[in-house]
Amino acid sequence: SLINNGGGHEPTLNTDVDDPSHPLYHHRRIVTDFDYGEILGEGSYSTVLVGRDKRTGKQYAIKRLDKAHIVKNNKVKYVMIERDALSRMNHPGIVKLYWTYKDNRSLYFVLDLARNGELYTYIRRLTPFDLETTKFYAAEILLSIEHIHSRGVIHRDIKPENNAKPTHKASKKSILLDDNLHIKITDFGSAKIINESENASLGDGENTTATSARSFVGTAEYVSPELLRSDAVSKEADLWAFGCVIYQMLSGKSPFKAATDYLIFQKIKNLEYTMPNDFPPSAKDIVQRLLTSEPEKRFGSAATGGIDAIKEHPFFEDIDWDNIFTSNAPPLR
Ligand code: ADE
Repeated sequence: SLINNGGGHEPTLNTDVDDPSHPLYHHRRIVTDFDYGEILGEGSYSTVLVGRDKRTGKQYAIKRLDKAHIVKNNKVKYVMIERDALSRMNHPGIVKLYWTYKDNRSLYFVLDLARNGELYTYIRRLTPFDLETTKFYAAEILLSIEHIHSRGVIHRDIKPENNAKPTHKASKKSILLDDNLHIKITDFGSAKIINESENASLGDGENTTATSARSFVGTAEYVSPELLRSDAVSKEADLWAFGCVIYQMLSGKSPFKAATDYLIFQKIKNLEYTMPNDFPPSAKDIVQRLLTSEPEKRFGSAATGGIDAIKEHPFFEDIDWDNIFTSNAPPLR
């Protein structure tokens, strides 16, 4: 077959097999099409490895999920959602899902490799970020969220954190950086796919995109107040997390920090955070608008003008929205 006759020996290696116009694009892939290398991350049900396409030499991040473990723990539904959500995405700020395949033991997702790892690593090392860097990453994250929502998905776990809770051996990370230090959002394992009708509604703030999702998903520090109230969760939950990320890039800390998850939840419910004095006025304003308890009143909700209104905020004054992913990322050092 075409898949097996390559063997990496052809004189010309076409590395554009992941281009939809390439004749091999639609071919199914199998486990032995790739070499497997370094472990990039491990979760409860999955391991992410560097994978190399034997025929083209191109490297990917390959997520390997343990079937028995998934079935035993009733996670089949979430794996399907992750796959479905990822396959709806087509955006430079979001990891692309190229192929899936399986063997007796595992399912495999072949994804974009984000070679510079977690944004969190840089936040830990380098914060406070300067305003320029913060704006750049915030803008890329916002465009990515906009795309996710436009494809009828709520991510529900946007975070730079590598949350090291002992109960979760998972080292989940949803904001990664590629070769050129541009962001790649990943980890759609907590995502919610919105019904067509829900997504289609050009809501006015009352109606909109609320879902009846009530289970706890996400990370304590970034969890939205509506989720803690067991209200319906909507797209605006991702904008709450977005506000938390901006705060954290500018200050080095997440806004609702405490010793235990319980105390974090208390603070979130009471909107108990302090705005650092040294935040520039436009940063104070955007963070305050995003950290609004009521999702209907939160900045970026349909009633407040949607994500376009966020883009027009003075914080993003000099951002060139059309060219950010092709521009040079600010030097991170
Ligand atoms: N860890 C988890 N997913 C990854 C990816 N796509 N690239 C690099 N590291 C990862």
